[in-house]
Amino acid sequence: MSQTLLRGRTLSFHRWPESVEDRSAFSYEEDGAILIEDGRIVASGAYANVAGKAKADVKIVDHRPNLILPGFVDCHAHYPQMQVIASYGAELLDWLNKYTFPEETKFANPQHSRRIARVFLDELIRHGTTSVVAYCTVHKCSAEAFFAESHSRNMLNIAGKVMMDRNAPAGVLDTPQSSYDDTNALIAEWHGKGRQHYAVTPRFAITSSPEQMEMAGALMREHPNLHMQTHLSENHAEIAYTCELYPQAKDYTDVYAQYGLLGPRALFGHAIHLSDRERDALSDSGSVAVFCPTSNLFLGSGLFPYQENRQRAKPLRIATATDVGGGTNYSMLRTMDEAYKIIALQGEKLNPFASFWQLTRGNAEALSLADRIGTLEAGSDADLVVLNAKATPAMRLRMETIETLAEELFLLQTLGDDRAVSEVYVAGKPAKSDILNA
Ligand code: GUN
Ligand code: ZN
Repeated sequence: MSQTLLRGRTLSFHRWPESVEDRSAFSYEEDGAILIEDGRIVASGAYANVAGKAKADVKIVDHRPNLILPGFVDCHAHYPQMQVIASYGAELLDWLNKYTFPEETKFANPQHSRRIARVFLDELIRHGTTSVVAYCTVHKCSAEAFFAESHSRNMLNIAGKVMMDRNAPAGVLDTPQSSYDDTNALIAEWHGKGRQHYAVTPRFAITSSPEQMEMAGALMREHPNLHMQTHLSENHAEIAYTCELYPQAKDYTDVYAQYGLLGPRALFGHAIHLSDRERDALSDSGSVAVFCPTSNLFLGSGLFPYQENRQRAKPLRIATATDVGGGTNYSMLRTMDEAYKIIALQGEKLNPFASFWQLTRGNAEALSLADRIGTLEAGSDADLVVLNAKATPAMRLRMETIETLAEELFLLQTLGDDRAVSEVYVAGKPAKSDILNA
């Protein structure tokens, strides 16, 4: 089996970095290397050590002076909303009715689904994201298209067919039984095929009847190793309507709890306006709150209390995500820049190391996948991003006065986007240059 040796400055996190002085939270090599064989990382560390482990015919790619990190992980995005992005002037429920649901009706067409899935994954890779947790639409063929496209690129992605049977146009509705049957068929065909993972995906309580929520709960009981994704507590009108529809529940979180949908593989998009009781319930069950900064700002939904959720007596597991097309950018660098500002508005800070931990290992841990992605550790899949902090004239100029790694990371986050991503590897293969040369 042929080997590839990437040379560059390497950075990989072991745990949450408390501050910019917390050097034991990560490994950084000024002259580092990553040895790849069969899509996996065989060794990483100082170039002198790693090069000594390589076979004689190893292919060497020199990325110096760029930084090599684990590929970014986006924990919540809607691939069918690529043509919804930049829809003007509405808050969540109006935005769904006016723009999003009509757009999603188009995914009854398999050709349309495949075309958008292709462009979506191209766009993620161009921005340095190597894994995404994606919503498809209600149509089974939308999930088939996504998985087929993801599998053909050998990406590790998590996705699911949306379950929704009420409060939306007929073109995006299923039934409790059809959603159960389609989900089961998709799990059988795609979960565990190559690097594909299935997520049971009831859109949110407003668009699922109690009968459909029962079906979602049954699917999770029957397949307890699957992820589950939905939306929670994004907007005040949404919360009020949900509580009207499920009057027997204590609160919004309790709706999902009553159907057995909380747990360590449950991903709750937004989770902004939660009571302490709800946060305790999420924490006790090991559920994950997914912070979607650009979307929360664009739709005027609210400020996710990131540091408070992390530091409370019962901390929340937190992931971050673009939430395209409520979210306004495919870049996880742009996403963490907006996260920084939301946290700043709450009188707190997010240090640059913590930010890059979140983008990589933190999001992988939130998905319970840190043994496969999110680090440069031997045995991990070789999903990598190569970053250039001098990618634009403005970045180059600012770099003249930058002295530390923490400052460089903060510049990448503050001014960086797809232009700062010089290469991406998916399972050891160059993927960004592949797209640009296609
Ligand atoms: N809540 C239910 N569906 C959606 C969606 O598509 N986007 C966002 N931001 N929130 C939702
Ligand atoms: Zn969403």
